[in-house]
Amino acid sequence: MKILFITSEIHPLVKTGGLADVARALPMALHHLGDDIRILLPGYRSVMPHLSNPIVVVDSFPYGLLPAEARLLSTTLPDSPLPLWVLDCPALFDRSGGPYQTDEGVDWADNPQRFAALSQVGAWLASAQNGLSWTPDIVHCNDWQSALTPALLKFQGNPTPSVLTIHNLAFQGNFAPEWVSLLNLPASEFHPESLEFYGQLSFLKAGLVHAHHITTVSPRYAREIQTPQLGCGLDGLLRHRRHSLSGILNGIDELWNPDTDACLPFAYSVTRLSGKKKTKEYLQKRLGLPIDPKCFMVGLVSRLTEQKGIDLLLDSLERLLEYPVQIVILGSGDAEMERRLAHWSSRTPQQLHVSLGFNEALSHQIIAASDLFLMPSRFEPCGLAQMYAMTYGTPPLVHRTGGLADTVVPCHITPTGVSGTGFVFEIAHMNDFKEAFYQAYDAFQDKKHWLQLQKNGMKQDFRWNKAATEYQDIYQSLLK
Ligand code: ADP
Ligand code: GLC
Repeated sequence: MKILFITSEIHPLVKTGGLADVARALPMALHHLGDDIRILLPGYRSVMPHLSNPIVVVDSFPYGLLPAEARLLSTTLPDSPLPLWVLDCPALFDRSGGPYQTDEGVDWADNPQRFAALSQVGAWLASAQNGLSWTPDIVHCNDWQSALTPALLKFQGNPTPSVLTIHNLAFQGNFAPEWVSLLNLPASEFHPESLEFYGQLSFLKAGLVHAHHITTVSPRYAREIQTPQLGCGLDGLLRHRRHSLSGILNGIDELWNPDTDACLPFAYSVTRLSGKKKTKEYLQKRLGLPIDPKCFMVGLVSRLTEQKGIDLLLDSLERLLEYPVQIVILGSGDAEMERRLAHWSSRTPQQLHVSLGFNEALSHQIIAASDLFLMPSRFEPCGLAQMYAMTYGTPPLVHRTGGLADTVVPCHITPTGVSGTGFVFEIAHMNDFKEAFYQAYDAFQDKKHWLQLQKNGMKQDFRWNKAATEYQDIYQSLLK
């Protein structure tokens, strides 16, 4: 099957979160299953120098399709066989800063134009007029950044089936109504059954209305987004489309394997855990923490936002630090959260280490070195980090929501053994979070039980194969 996969980030070229990991791993899994999958990505400034032998396959697009001079480059994703198309449009993507925001954390004012361009090129690649010897059988879009594509295909009368995956319903790409004409979208489509969401142009809603099928990244989140609590105002539409909505649990990339991980100083596996202990000592040394193999090391790697429940951790920190623990945090995001974390780490540098920023290698090392991994998210569509943690023998502590609830089995310790893979709290409140932390701390004191808990997690199968075949089933059903 020929699949066009449109994404605004992809590991290892550009990453702000889990979408980048999924955008590499799912196409890899589909490629291994024999599909002809090609990826479309914006040519951000940070991406361009890392492309290997890019070839220009389109040197200008039809007049009026894009707001500026643009080309399409063909290459493969680094360290993979995956065909990659890069939309090289300097006016939109050649700038310093992140893919969606300036260095100061402000959304680019022309984001509607930038991601409409991505979506437009996606729709054009799916048309017979593209002048290339390839058109897709299926177009697979991800999040609001490419969610206009299904709508454009409809407006253009192109019957190619489209799938839209929601990685996070909270990000919708809603913009002032003036953008409808600025983006040359049909004014007649600006109504609540199509492009309009409470007076604004909504990229995500456009996709949710017009995609032939909608998926999201865990079965539980697929149910949660149909409720007012987590539906972000779109629950009514999602209930209406429930027969075309599937929750497919993400897998984890084969790169996340403690036995082969190039970011780790020592390899290890479920039958050979000594490398994990050595990694803990390595990290303590690297971060200037007291070297103590017995100390309970607690890790967190996350975007620092309200979604991730960082405030629950901040409000509990004083109490947690009364225990003989080391807490290691890597994250970036909300300025006030960053300030509070930095404040706490300057008060207790022997117990709390905070690295602000994005650091791929350090993220692997923290997940590997820690004894416990924190993920107290208020909501979590899937969550990859808790699956990485289990695979790396680091039981996670999570809130019972979305993909966290679907992947972490609460641990039960009985005289005969330990079942489960982590610690799960019910209510997103500081008290529940702290109770789960105390439970984890107590469990850690019994080395035999803890080892069993670690091994339970490491034996889980989070590989992509099963999810990839579920996507294939959806594609097949749309082609019938
Ligand atoms: P989300 O996509 O909502 O951020 P996920 O758990 O699905 O959550 O994916 C987060 C991904 O981003 C993981 O690979 C995690 O390790 C990574 N990550 C988050 N923050 C950082 C950071 N500051 N540095 C490096 N990696 C990070
Ligand atoms: C989003 C979600 C996260 C999910 C990731 C990949 O960023 O917040 O839960 O794991 O996408 O699907």
